[in-house]
Amino acid sequence: MRKRVVSFAISFCTLFFITGKISAQQKKDAITEAKITALIKKMTLEEKIGMIHGNSSFTSTGVKRLGIPELTMSDGPHGVRPEHGRGWSLQNKGNDSSTYLPTGITLASTWNPKLGYSFGAVLGSEAKYRGKDVILGPGINIMRTPLNGRNFEYMSEDPYLISKMVVGYIKGVQDQGISACVKHFLANNQETKRSGINVLMSERALRELYMPGFKAAITEGNANTIMGAYNKFRGEYCTYNDYLVNRVLKGEWGFKGIMISDWGAIHTTKDALLGGADIEMGTDLDMKGDKDYNKFFFGDPALAAVKNGEVKEAVIDDKVRRILRIMFKTHMFDKRTPGEYATKAHAEVAKKVAEEGIILLKNSDNILPLKNVKSVAMIGANADRPNAFGGGSSQIRPKYEVTALAGLRKLSGGNLAISYSQGYAITRGAKADDKMIRDAAEAASKSDMAIVVGGWTHGYDYTKWSDNAYDAEGIDKPDMNMPFGQDELIKAVIKANKNTVVILYGGGPIDVSQWVNDAKAVIQVGYPGQEGGTALAEILLGKVNPSGKLTVSWPVKLEDSPAHKLGEFPGDGTDVKYNEDIYVGYRYFDTYNVKPQFAFGHGLSYTNFKYSNISTAKNHQTATVTFTLKNTGTVAGAEVAQLYVHDNHSSVKRPEKELKAFQKVFLKPGESKTITMKLNADAFKYYSETKKQWILEPGKFEVLVGTSSDAIKLKSPIIL
Ligand code: BGC
Repeated sequence: MRKRVVSFAISFCTLFFITGKISAQQKKDAITEAKITALIKKMTLEEKIGMIHGNSSFTSTGVKRLGIPELTMSDGPHGVRPEHGRGWSLQNKGNDSSTYLPTGITLASTWNPKLGYSFGAVLGSEAKYRGKDVILGPGINIMRTPLNGRNFEYMSEDPYLISKMVVGYIKGVQDQGISACVKHFLANNQETKRSGINVLMSERALRELYMPGFKAAITEGNANTIMGAYNKFRGEYCTYNDYLVNRVLKGEWGFKGIMISDWGAIHTTKDALLGGADIEMGTDLDMKGDKDYNKFFFGDPALAAVKNGEVKEAVIDDKVRRILRIMFKTHMFDKRTPGEYATKAHAEVAKKVAEEGIILLKNSDNILPLKNVKSVAMIGANADRPNAFGGGSSQIRPKYEVTALAGLRKLSGGNLAISYSQGYAITRGAKADDKMIRDAAEAASKSDMAIVVGGWTHGYDYTKWSDNAYDAEGIDKPDMNMPFGQDELIKAVIKANKNTVVILYGGGPIDVSQWVNDAKAVIQVGYPGQEGGTALAEILLGKVNPSGKLTVSWPVKLEDSPAHKLGEFPGDGTDVKYNEDIYVGYRYFDTYNVKPQFAFGHGLSYTNFKYSNISTAKNHQTATVTFTLKNTGTVAGAEVAQLYVHDNHSSVKRPEKELKAFQKVFLKPGESKTITMKLNADAFKYYSETKKQWILEPGKFEVLVGTSSDAIKLKSPIIL
């Protein structure tokens, strides 16, 4: 139980001021600020310094005599991490099995901001139950290249989609009285040399692509904390990059919360203190316990910097004020409501997100859902493999995880004969295994249908994420081809049985060019969480109609990806130049007329939708777009209607189209709805490199409404 903070000296004068003509919230805030001022006055410099750096792997110091608790953090972003105690060794405490939610890419594939909120609420509630104050998520770095090892934790290539999903997530967490920590600010778009690579990009790319998600997290989501990225940006480390942190985050966006460093991302004292970092987190230098934490840059060296006059004490006071502000806001001095933990209701949220986040990419001859099928050969190591524990700092220890194989066995209720063959071995450097492939092909030939479950993995051994890992922290993928001879396997299975469905796990694009035309159906599941196998089986069996859509374009081959074609990856070891500029994802494919394998926003359903009757109405610089959406098929389903804006005449080059609104619409068979989407002036603007501001150039625009970025169904002009 946390100690109450007692007696705050609020002068009559202050009280009089705060009871003047200001709103109730402003009054409340003013009272809190006065309490904080009083507390800071009572603190010694040493106590203040304690609060701005880690004192164990996931805590920063409190001040016992004043009732200020430690600030306790936990990864994040798709479940509360198992206990590591104060060091890094796993504690196996017995009560640390949290709900394993689908990862960021699968959450975003739902295109359903309401689910973002439910997801955040589960995390917030479980973090609270476990005594955490900050959950280290969401991760929202732009998916710039298919090779980023952490794409699975992130959401999309598109800043608008990220902005909409991130706000719900943060509000969900913070309505539980726990802080979200949006990360990694900024441009941590690769793991190769992540701790020091210097990212170089134009101001326009920064403003149009890499910042909007973070801006929405702060200005709309009111995220209490933000994590600085490991990398540099224009020559300065992100966590204390004067431009990014002081000028934009704390200046332009008015961020009043805490800038927490990524673990070990601070490399100096004075510049980091002045550059805007508030708490230095990291690992104790000898990995054994608390004893070296005072040697952190924000420990003894920071104390010395203030004592010798290099840094003013007011700089430290501002950091302490920010920490205390969030402590008050998240009820760390009074009683929090209790959280809940690994409940059925939380598992339901995990299932719902998986159901809506799994994407049907191809479905020839309507082979799915399964009908008239008596036997299935399930093939592939990923079918029988749990994923929760892999990937790095986002690891979870759930009570259970339903794999694809277990899900289909359970839900088919004995009505399907299901055989299983491993097909490939998840082993360091493993190539195609002829014997396993022969066995799999034989099983396929004896069944009505073959289902190959493959894709990326977190590593060859899911307890050691970094060894030969693909979707994992600290490492990027070597290429876009599936490892372990999976292409050979799939081709052999298709040869043995033309009714082959391929199911792909993993954080984003895979080169499927060798067999995609021959596979009957392809499903992308991302990492669907502890109920992923249930959701997948429901979709295969037609109990759930798929409604997920891609949040990232799938290039045919890696060379088609703009970061690789026009830009640099992974850079020269010192710098990485984002020469592709704003042409990331569909902004590139559509503008440069390069056909992707699967387009951004693509995802099929078991029903059909018809778009009709578009009209636009304009009011000054805003527009309202209305159209009709009808479910013309025989089953209920959901469609994500997407609205893109095209600028017909512009004085600067602009992407062919940009996503500016979307809505997930649930329709019964035969049902139609009138959909209204509003566009404000921002939807038509670009960021001017020369004027250093957002510009709305009057003239003719077009709104494009469709089912994906490459399947536009309706168009309407609009003159602003
Ligand atoms: C990761 C962060 C994570 C932190 C704490 C770092 O290595 O980049 O995302 O929150 O560790 O585990």
